[in-house]
Amino acid sequence: MSTSKRILITGATGMLGSTLVKQWQPTNKVYCTSTSAALPFMQHHMEFDIKSSNYNALIEWSQPEVIVHCAALTNGNYCQENPSEALEINGLTLKKLTQSAGKQCRIIYISTDAVFSADLNMAKESDLPNPDNVYGKSKELGEFFLTQHSENYTIIRTTIVGLNSKNGKTGFTEWIVDSAQKKIPIQLFGDVLFNPISCKQLGVEILNILDSDLFKNEIVHLSGSEVVSKFEFGIRLLEKLNINFDSVSKGSILTFNQRAKRSTDQSLDCSYYQKTTQRSLPSLDQCVDSLITEYNE
Ligand SMILES: NC(=O)c1ccc[n+]([C@@H]2O[C@H](COP(=O)([O-])OP(=O)(O)OC[C@H]3O[C@@H](n4cnc5c(N)ncnc54)[C@H](OP(=O)(O)O)[C@@H]3O)[C@@H](O)[C@H]2O)c1
Repeated sequence: MSTSKRILITGATGMLGSTLVKQWQPTNKVYCTSTSAALPFMQHHMEFDIKSSNYNALIEWSQPEVIVHCAALTNGNYCQENPSEALEINGLTLKKLTQSAGKQCRIIYISTDAVFSADLNMAKESDLPNPDNVYGKSKELGEFFLTQHSENYTIIRTTIVGLNSKNGKTGFTEWIVDSAQKKIPIQLFGDVLFNPISCKQLGVEILNILDSDLFKNEIVHLSGSEVVSKFEFGIRLLEKLNINFDSVSKGSILTFNQRAKRSTDQSLDCSYYQKTTQRSLPSLDQCVDSLITEYNE
């Protein structure tokens, strides 16, 4: 049983942030922040732009024991075209957040596989980051500032899948389901690998980290236990949802005209997490089942 905590979630209107709010709010004091307005289910919300020069108002309002920092610019192409903004929001923010939060406050920073280059399979915590694009560089900068300025942090690198709560916002999962339902032909990459974990499942593991007090001032890789292609993920999702997938075909990232270079191998080795916590991370089926439960809610 998890003990109640006072938690500030940044990026609370985003895919991960909103899932954590819904999951944690019943048993914790959850304070939400984003630049956009509160979503209907949020009990405490403050509009706040993390580009602000100081965070005192946000910290005084929420007085957090823990900050789970989900806010970021996550659109790779946008980051590539706006590098200063990406480095500021995804990177410099961590310096300001740490300085305002004070030493007692634990900061959980949600980072990404994108800090590694495409040629690394099953990246370990000990592997050197070498991002291929501005988004990855900006997240690596965030990691750097946190390690330099905080003595009470955990950096979680992950590859999440989930559902959006904000009206009109769609991500990877919704795109696959909506396209298949409407029989719109789409291609899913057969040559891009990842080990997905659902946002809900990540939420359970983050609470476990907070309760067990493990991974203090450490980086930890936390994702699913099974490496699959984006195509395999999409087909399994549609099969389990009983949606016809005739309109979905296997594509290749090599033929994809992209502005920001994307990694073909997003897999993360999560054995350190599993060994330290003695917990098993979700398989592909468990990940997809978790998404389906969310759909049905
Ligand atoms: N999605 C993935 O595949 C993935 C994979 C690995 C790691 N991650 C990491 O996981 C975290 C959450 O990702 P996500 O997919 O949930 O992101 P998302 O859906 O794009 O949400 C981003 C959130 O950041 C907020 N935000 C952006 N700029 C802001 C600013 N200047 N001031 C305040 N808030 C701002 C947005 O608020 P508004 O609504 O107000 O714009 C939104 O709530 C990110 O740190 C991301 O790097 C994501």
